[in-house]
Amino acid sequence: MTGAKLIVGNWKMNGLMADSRERTEKLTAAVAKSTSGSFHMVLCPPATMINAVSWFLKESAIRWGGQDCHDQPPGAFTGDIAPEMLKDLGCDFVILGHSERRQHHKETSALVASKAKRAHATGLVTIICVGELDAERSAGKHESVVAQQLKESIPDTATSDNTVIAYEPVWAIGTGKTASGDDIKQMHAFIRGKVGKMQILYGGSVKGSNAREILHTANVDGVLVGGASLKVDEFMAIAEAS
Ligand code: 13P
Repeated sequence: MTGAKLIVGNWKMNGLMADSRERTEKLTAAVAKSTSGSFHMVLCPPATMINAVSWFLKESAIRWGGQDCHDQPPGAFTGDIAPEMLKDLGCDFVILGHSERRQHHKETSALVASKAKRAHATGLVTIICVGELDAERSAGKHESVVAQQLKESIPDTATSDNTVIAYEPVWAIGTGKTASGDDIKQMHAFIRGKVGKMQILYGGSVKGSNAREILHTANVDGVLVGGASLKVDEFMAIAEAS
């Protein structure tokens, strides 16, 4: 696929008012100065910071989103967030099925699909995450694991306009290990065969120094960045490598 790359920053459970303001102000200034028109940037701060970040980003070209949402309309679900609430804060995107939620909150692919369906109904673009464990890759099961996750996590409401897929091999998240160029090429071609025109992002230890190679791999339409998205210079280096 051609066109501008999608550069998504997932802040995970990081961000207090002061550091979030400083980070977004520096980033906004850097994006405004950037002469590279080859990327679209999205920030997904923790839920507590979305409102503030939406104000910090208001005049910028950067869009924002949530890191999760519930699969039910607003109601009696203590501690949860409905997609309508993300929409209300100007979010365009929501990350769903991140491996940290699949692992720590026991989220199943069926639940991810249910969340995605409701998010689509509210007009959010879903970034649906898939990826195999280290042991699954060692056992040669990475393609079948990802195929199953795609089949069960993508609802029938999904189109290439409202759904982005993020391939994040679990063993590459926050470990400093990235998948090899060949592994990324192979898996993204495999996913392309399953999801047609949907954009496909790579995630897992993406940083300034490896971004160019990753972003210029066939069928990589952008990146989902964790740790490096908290550092403005590093995140900009990734975006500029588009
Ligand atoms: P890291 O970039 O910190 O490896 O995290 C990747 C990720 O999980 C993004 O969603």
